[in-house]
Amino acid sequence: MSDDGPTSGFQRIVDRGLSRRSFLEGGLAFGASALAVGALTGDARATPRFEFQPVAANTRDTVTLPPGFRWHVVARWGDPLWSHGPAFDPETRGTGSSQELACGDNIDGMELFDVDGRSVLCINNEYVNRGIFHGNRPFGWPWNTDDIRKSKAGHGITIAEIALRDGRWRITQDSSVNRRLTADTPIAITGPARGHPLVRTADDQAGVQALGTWNNCGCGRTPWGTYLTCEENFNGYFLSSDGAYTPTPEMRRYGIGFKDWGYAWAKADQRFDISRHPNEPNRFGYVVEIDPLDAQSMPRKRTALGRFKHENAEVVLASDGRVVVYMGDDEQGEFLYRFVSAGRYVLGGDNSGLLDEGQLYAARFNDDFSGAWLALTPAATGMGSTAEICIHTRQAASAVGATTMDRPEWVAAHPRKAEVYCALTNNSRRGAGINAGGDAMPAKGPNPRARNRYGQIVRWSPTGGDHAAAGFTWNLYVLAGNPKVHTGADAGSANVTSANMFNSPDGLAFSPGGLLWMQTDGNDSDGGDFAGMGNNQMLVGDPASGDIRRFMVGPPDCEVTGLAWSTDRRTLFCGIQHPGVRGNSHFPDGGDAVPRSSVIAITRDDGGPIG
Ligand code: FEO
Ligand code: CA
Ligand code: CA
Ligand code: CA
Repeated sequence: MSDDGPTSGFQRIVDRGLSRRSFLEGGLAFGASALAVGALTGDARATPRFEFQPVAANTRDTVTLPPGFRWHVVARWGDPLWSHGPAFDPETRGTGSSQELACGDNIDGMELFDVDGRSVLCINNEYVNRGIFHGNRPFGWPWNTDDIRKSKAGHGITIAEIALRDGRWRITQDSSVNRRLTADTPIAITGPARGHPLVRTADDQAGVQALGTWNNCGCGRTPWGTYLTCEENFNGYFLSSDGAYTPTPEMRRYGIGFKDWGYAWAKADQRFDISRHPNEPNRFGYVVEIDPLDAQSMPRKRTALGRFKHENAEVVLASDGRVVVYMGDDEQGEFLYRFVSAGRYVLGGDNSGLLDEGQLYAARFNDDFSGAWLALTPAATGMGSTAEICIHTRQAASAVGATTMDRPEWVAAHPRKAEVYCALTNNSRRGAGINAGGDAMPAKGPNPRARNRYGQIVRWSPTGGDHAAAGFTWNLYVLAGNPKVHTGADAGSANVTSANMFNSPDGLAFSPGGLLWMQTDGNDSDGGDFAGMGNNQMLVGDPASGDIRRFMVGPPDCEVTGLAWSTDRRTLFCGIQHPGVRGNSHFPDGGDAVPRSSVIAITRDDGGPIG
């Protein structure tokens, strides 16, 4: 990061912050992070302005945008991708077979691929909202094997060609690229863990092909045109039917135990029973690479990128053309990771093996705003092989002393300079607990607040501007907070005001012009510590000036997550996940309609570019 000196936007923010809230003089155990915000500098001249009138926080059952912008629905949970798929039935909420032909539930990360005049949207369907998804059953519990088939098909990835007709984007039914990937889709296991004894099962004794992908949260894309989908809370689907079975410490580290989270898949598919198939969970928790243009292609689990609760996968190139993937592990006190490929990206070349061979690292953040990438090698971790490190990645990062983080969510790289941002969403146990591996979670460094309820965004610059460099410098872009309710640390950094406050940043992406778009997955009670914040939302940040403005407010109970731009930047696609999950919304259809997770398209009234 260049230092513009005391007149830079960030320095002014810091000056304001220090005088307004007296972080340092107040004697809070917070001085270091106030300095962290203070250390920020930026290049305001490099970032174009994107003008809009900020949206006020609200709790309305709709999407609220600034004047001059409009939205429409592109796809909803249950919308068929093929003409022989039945329309969504609000009474039954679909069957196993109808769901296999339709958009999945819980829209999350998404990417748009524009190729040869066709627009192909890849959408993660993270999980299903039992109470709504099985709303035709008592208490929303899956009732029979077809309900479980439907649930497995509500998960995964939806790939659909979309087209703009009469000003509205819609799914092109029966397109050759349309595809559903579910919890039963065959997926190759590639990279160091392929064939390792820990991934071998009764049904796949060679350990080379898993069935399915689920809890696909954030995403990424490669320079060679493939989609990356990230398996996050894969643990919540496993259980033990044998009460005497002892889950291993390795399972416990990943949250795998006696009970699932209510999906009941083990009742119809015994591979979800760890007492019978203890290696099955080792085949999940990876980044999966998919060719979005070939519906017959075999997706690949890229084990070289490690196994953890993957949030997203932000791909950049190092100075020498090696591929660098930044990744967060979203769990209290888990880590931030980086993969650096062994080979180099070649434009138009065969890049299909680049994500199978390379070095995985975990981040250490020092209190002096320096940092280091710690290589997860057998020698450094004491583990037996690279394959084992790629399967038990959390244990490897603990072994090298990586920094426990406040739940790393999406990572986003600045499109114009070597600067990378990560949303640290919250951590109620910061300063008071340990992670599942026994590592301490002190309140310091980039995780400065005890019982962190609002979250923050950390950013770093690699040494020499090279994403493959061993070191970096870091600081905080924003500490979320509530200046109406609190003073001091919980009021947030000075670029947080009563007009733009939010909590729990999660989805992050840069628009091509260099503005940071931030989506929230937080407490939307609009009361107590969160009074005045309204529903979950999307904000736009200027990395240079530090300014943050609220661009959009979602409907009640939703998380705003997933975003993608059309190539001409005139449409911004955005995910509305689980509206009405607590009974407070009928989004998007209104009236007494069943609420449905949706992809919306945001456009400008004047047809201009967004961001
Ligand atoms: Fe699926 Fe960490 O969000
Ligand atoms: Ca998320
Ligand atoms: Ca989240
Ligand atoms: Ca969610």
